[in-house]
Amino acid sequence: MSDIKKIKDEYFLKLSKELDINQINQIKTDLFGKNGLVSSQFKQLGKIAEDERKKFASELNNVKDELQKLIVSKIEEIEIKEINQKLEKEKVDITLPERPFADGKIHPVSQVIDEISSIFSEIGFSVEEGPDVENEYNNFTALNTPDNHPARDMHDTFYLDEKKELLLRTHTSPVQIRTMLNDKPPFKIIAPGRTYRSDSDQTHAPMFHQVEGLHIDKDINMGHLKGCLNYFIKEFFEVDKIKMRFRPSHFPFTEPSAEVDIGYEIKDGKIIIGEGNKWLEILGCGMVHPNVLKNVNVDPGEFQGYAFGIGIDRLAMLKYGINDLRAFFDCDYRWLNQFGFDPIDVPSSYRGLSR
Ligand code: PHE
Repeated sequence: MSDIKKIKDEYFLKLSKELDINQINQIKTDLFGKNGLVSSQFKQLGKIAEDERKKFASELNNVKDELQKLIVSKIEEIEIKEINQKLEKEKVDITLPERPFADGKIHPVSQVIDEISSIFSEIGFSVEEGPDVENEYNNFTALNTPDNHPARDMHDTFYLDEKKELLLRTHTSPVQIRTMLNDKPPFKIIAPGRTYRSDSDQTHAPMFHQVEGLHIDKDINMGHLKGCLNYFIKEFFEVDKIKMRFRPSHFPFTEPSAEVDIGYEIKDGKIIIGEGNKWLEILGCGMVHPNVLKNVNVDPGEFQGYAFGIGIDRLAMLKYGINDLRAFFDCDYRWLNQFGFDPIDVPSSYRGLSR
């Protein structure tokens, strides 16, 4: 058998097997590389006697063509196989169950703000908002707070500039000023939001939440304040009876001023609101000081009313049995899962569309 025939048989056999692309490339080099088997045969052409040369050359060319064709078809075969494998692997299996869908939870503070807003709106209060970054005038001066008042101290207040003109509001009371400067009396508003003081321990966080209340009209008195707070606390804690006491206090922007405590007791490790003989302070309030009304161009001879400021975080802790205020602001997903609230349920068929 001639060398050419031997090469052909040997490599047809090799190429009939299952090969990968590297093995095919190797075969290509073995045959057609610089010193490849077929290439070497071509180099020998010159040494062959003239009468035999033509036959040899045509036989060699045929074998070369056949082997090349076979190699090309082998490569195509491998490429098609790869594509099919990929298609097989990547195909979408519509019978798979959907992935678990994690619903977010509503933070207890947001929940309580919603509850407070809806309780007060039922008795005619509208909801106002003010910015967290306030000016010194709205936060202190307009609220009749003297220059030497301890609340203005750097230890208490986060100032945002050296001149102490901008600060993070220390209470929601500046919204009283903004509301009254913007409109004409009567006023009947609440203003929930974030407040800031330089304070941090188990019951104080540097950022916390308050809701301000303000009711100004021609004949609003302290009895209205009491009635309003009594109604609110009963509604909020969902109880029929409440023990509430007003303790004389001082705020520069109210006169007289009071702090309000509610009665509670602890039964089986649970706080029961409205019973027992323990007291818990939940808010500050009073009749709006005539100087504040003057500062916002309201005539104190004609209009008067009350204001209050309630600590929202504390209400949330009491109502939902949370004992460390700092947990509110840790952003711990597990905590939120335990204490958070479910949003209004969205049918699962709509989820794909809305999110
Ligand atoms: N702003 C007061 C505080 O933060 C609370 C308060 C509001 C008192 C309105 C009286 C009237 O402590």
